[in-house]
Amino acid sequence: MTSLTYADYLNLDTLLSLQAPRTPDTAERSVILAEHFFVVAHQSSELWLKQIAADLDAAVDALRPEYGPSDPESGSELLERAAELLRILLEQLAALDKLPVRHFAEFRPYLGSASGAESEQFHYLAELLGDDQHPGRLYEAFAAATEHSGTTVAEVCRRGPQAGVHHRIAENLLDIGNRYWRWKVGHLTLMSKMLGEQPGTGGTTGAAYLISRIIVPFAELRRLRGRLHEDLVGRPAQ
Ligand code: HEM
Repeated sequence: MTSLTYADYLNLDTLLSLQAPRTPDTAERSVILAEHFFVVAHQSSELWLKQIAADLDAAVDALRPEYGPSDPESGSELLERAAELLRILLEQLAALDKLPVRHFAEFRPYLGSASGAESEQFHYLAELLGDDQHPGRLYEAFAAATEHSGTTVAEVCRRGPQAGVHHRIAENLLDIGNRYWRWKVGHLTLMSKMLGEQPGTGGTTGAAYLISRIIVPFAELRRLRGRLHEDLVGRPAQ
């Protein structure tokens, strides 16, 4: 039997052949290297996003009673992992702070109209997390799981840790939502540092567009938790 190597198991030949800067070979080495860094940062973000989306999909399946027996403990475990991976995603973004803007300006024309705004995995994540107007599939699955156990999200918020796994899931969702929110803000500040008032390669205004795209997921969960201030003291919080 031939032994499986590390490189074979991970398909490293293929993986490490996928970084292809478009800056011509004749350009300065530091510019080619900067574009390589830019490509690696985006590719690794997409890889982590693949895992995050798969974990969140599995969490939805674990929570929704109509997809089989509801398994909130496994759901919570998957949500915790996704929250941790979103932290990594934010850190990866922060590494791009070390992209020298003079090098970026040199290789940016080679991006053409390619833009992160086209990221299908980010769109998928946004749909899972929801926004002010739409609760998103993740929150809907959580609400269904609470109802299946004869309770409600409002009651879970009211009982706090006594609500057990449902309380932990509410905390997991807020960790995920807040880290996603921080990613959006981190991306905006990075972009503003790198481009100032320049438009994006995707054709948007850049900073103004990204500000309009900063949404806070799990609005209803935040509202229900906030209500505790009124419920507990019997009058609106000051
Ligand atoms: C030097 C670093 C970066 C700059 C200057 C930058 C710039 C921009 C700009 C200007 C936009 C607005 C759309 C457009 O007109 O192109 C955008 C959108 C976006 N970028 Fe980046 N970006 C950077 C890094 C990243 C990284 C590492 C990712 C991770 C995959 C990413 C993902 C996205 C996503 C998902 C959007 C859509 C955001 C939304 O709709 O809220 N970007 N970027």
